[in-house]
Amino acid sequence: MEGDMKTMDSEQLREYAHKMVDFIADYYKDIETFPVLSQVQPGYLRELIPDSAPARPDSFQDVLDDIRDKIIPGVTHWQSPEYFAYFPSNSSIAGFLGEMLSAGVNVVGFSWITSPAATELETIVMDWLGKALKLPDAFLSTGHGGGVIQGTASESVLVVLLAARDKILRKVGEDAIRKLVVYISDQTHASMQKACKIGGILPRNIRILETDSSTEYALSPELLTKTISQDIALGLIPLFLCATIGTTSSAAVDPLLALGKIAKSNGLWFHVDAAYAGSACICPEFRPYLDGVEEADSFNMNAHKFFLTNFDCSALWVKERNALIHSLSTKAEYLENKASQENMVVDYKDWQIPLGRRFRSCRTSTYSGLQWELR
Ligand SMILES: Cc1ncc(COP(=O)(O)O)c(C=O)c1O
Repeated sequence: MEGDMKTMDSEQLREYAHKMVDFIADYYKDIETFPVLSQVQPGYLRELIPDSAPARPDSFQDVLDDIRDKIIPGVTHWQSPEYFAYFPSNSSIAGFLGEMLSAGVNVVGFSWITSPAATELETIVMDWLGKALKLPDAFLSTGHGGGVIQGTASESVLVVLLAARDKILRKVGEDAIRKLVVYISDQTHASMQKACKIGGILPRNIRILETDSSTEYALSPELLTKTISQDIALGLIPLFLCATIGTTSSAAVDPLLALGKIAKSNGLWFHVDAAYAGSACICPEFRPYLDGVEEADSFNMNAHKFFLTNFDCSALWVKERNALIHSLSTKAEYLENKASQENMVVDYKDWQIPLGRRFRSCRTSTYSGLQWELR
């Protein structure tokens, strides 16, 4: 790009951003003319792009031409109305504009002081969304719980597994990690097993409970009870149960109420993964699928699936935010500030794996979606 972009020159930004918006608007105008699945062969781009970065800048028009001729052919068009894989068409104009705003102000809001609005809007919007889903008050920020926007459902399940693990290990001692058992079904998303790997749960202590067509692939409470009893008899420690509302391969819905009661009576952390179908539960006719969520310790849905919010936006609520904070908080001199030290604020860095975080809550579809709901 021509010009000195070390500092943002607002007039240059205006000029180029208008061209970029035109480019993107044309992309959407033409999107149905592209083959939905990219037709390129592996490695196609190496043939088209130089081996090292150019020594001199290209013109902006050259860059746009390259994107049109070399990049767009290698794009699989997730926003095409003819795209039906995985989760289709997860964006909206409102979501896109919110994404622009997030890129525009480009804050890194890991603690309150690094951008108070980023933290406070996230807390408020997560309460709005929690209320729209009719989550129990215990998940809202007004009590001991609260919501946080993670990048993905995989990160959501990982952070709550770590919180659950550390909570129990504080009671029984660190050496007991080899005894901790996680319960899932054969329909549970693979991200749960990845979380176990990262969280130090032994592969032999992951119970993958079988499901079948007689229950439409829902996890059986009887099988769960039996398996937990067997594990306790072996001297193992039941740690974590993951139920799903809308499994990836079969759209199965696990019976939350029955499973939650079993989890509670055996001291398990109960996580509900509604990454895929959770958005639908805002509609009154689908909300009954969440009956029993009051028994859960944590609940997750991906707004970037069909809540028309640009990727990435995975909404996670917990009932006990301190469990997350105990597990994930970091202290360093360079992070110290008065508001944090006096415990006056939320520092979302302590609710997630990375330190840095984007201003995800300003993607307007999250709240404009709610405005429609609340109107
Ligand atoms: C039910 C369910 N859980 C978890 C995931 C993982 O999602 P993410 O890509 O946000 O980690 C998916 C993704 O498709 C899913 O459908």
